[in-house]
Amino acid sequence: MAKLALFGNAPVRKVPFPQWPQWTEQEERNILDVLRSGQWFRYLGDKVKQFEEKFAAYHDAMYGLAVTSGTAALEASLSALGVGPGDEVLVPSYTFVASATSIITNGATPVFVDIDLKTANIDLASAAVAITERTKAMMIVHFGGCPCDMDQVLQFAKSHNLKVIEDAAHAHGGKWDGKGLGSFGDIAGFSFQNSKNITAGEGGIVLTSSEELMNHVFSYHSYGQRRDYPWYSHHVVSRNLRMTEWQGAILLAQLERMPEQTELRLKNARKLDAALREIGVFTVMGSDDPRAAQRAYHLYQFRYAPGIAGVSRERFLEALRAEGIPCSAGYPVPLHKQPLFAGVKPPAGLQSYQDLELPNTATLCDENIWLVQSLLLGADADTQDIIDAIAKIVENADELR
Ligand SMILES: Cc1ncc(COP(=O)(O)O)c(C=O)c1O
Repeated sequence: MAKLALFGNAPVRKVPFPQWPQWTEQEERNILDVLRSGQWFRYLGDKVKQFEEKFAAYHDAMYGLAVTSGTAALEASLSALGVGPGDEVLVPSYTFVASATSIITNGATPVFVDIDLKTANIDLASAAVAITERTKAMMIVHFGGCPCDMDQVLQFAKSHNLKVIEDAAHAHGGKWDGKGLGSFGDIAGFSFQNSKNITAGEGGIVLTSSEELMNHVFSYHSYGQRRDYPWYSHHVVSRNLRMTEWQGAILLAQLERMPEQTELRLKNARKLDAALREIGVFTVMGSDDPRAAQRAYHLYQFRYAPGIAGVSRERFLEALRAEGIPCSAGYPVPLHKQPLFAGVKPPAGLQSYQDLELPNTATLCDENIWLVQSLLLGADADTQDIIDAIAKIVENADELR
């Protein structure tokens, strides 16, 4: 008799996982403070300012400037680095679209490179062969919250004379060798969009320890104004990317919970790692380097490799969802194969995006499994349900063949 929930039987998990976003009375109090103060604009109130200072300090950066989104943070950061027409920027192809489009909106060319299959982070050997005399910077992504090897990245950037921008949209609270992610490169961008590990629905922040870069970002985010100049004094064509006090109020409260939540995700992820190793049918991902131990988990990822013989990843995911475990296959195709790049012609000497093959990126698109970060915010028993559901499917795999 069939046992799997996919065929109408009882699922392992009968109640939902912790919801996201989460909030407490602290968010409510902070929002009411803003409302009643009548200071809803960030340069009249102090919530965004407080948040910037605390978030930057937590991540070991000297300056933080809040903006409207992670995309805006990356665009402003690249602009501050002077990335523009004629420049190329290395970027992994296993990432969100904004990592690459922020390069294009600055007038430069994204040059896609492969990833390391174990971490889903940039593969420096692939980056090395993509360098031309036009390469100005590299965007590294701490994918899913797994820290890139920042010693190697900085060494690589130095030897090729490249600026480094950290896409830290998944990396809140994570560390490399005890130092906050987002504080290694010249500049970094984080996102506070709804799914992120702390969130105000939307939002982002730029971190840097360079006063000069921060001044540029300030100007970029507020109509080309300059700090300490009269308000009706505009120095470059620019935008309005300012965060509201509402977002600052929520983020301040979220930030207080971040250390504890980062720890909890880490603890539950370790339990999952151990169980998946024991089950044996899947490939556990992440870095074994002790310097990466304090990682953030925006996504818990594992590869469907070798997977269950005769059962596709999609069929497995269907069965897992039926057991009450939300899960997905992640990015279905490498970013550079998106329709948006079909009409874009890379500069001379570079392969067309359509012809570019990045084998590890393609493999990960075919084999990856994502569990979102909020699944890691439960108690031990909640994580055990994920493990039991996976084990149940493996044991009853015959039903899926
Ligand atoms: C890796 C990465 N970079 C950048 C972004 C862009 O952030 P936002 O959605 O806040 O613009 C995201 C958002 O999902 C992301 O996952």
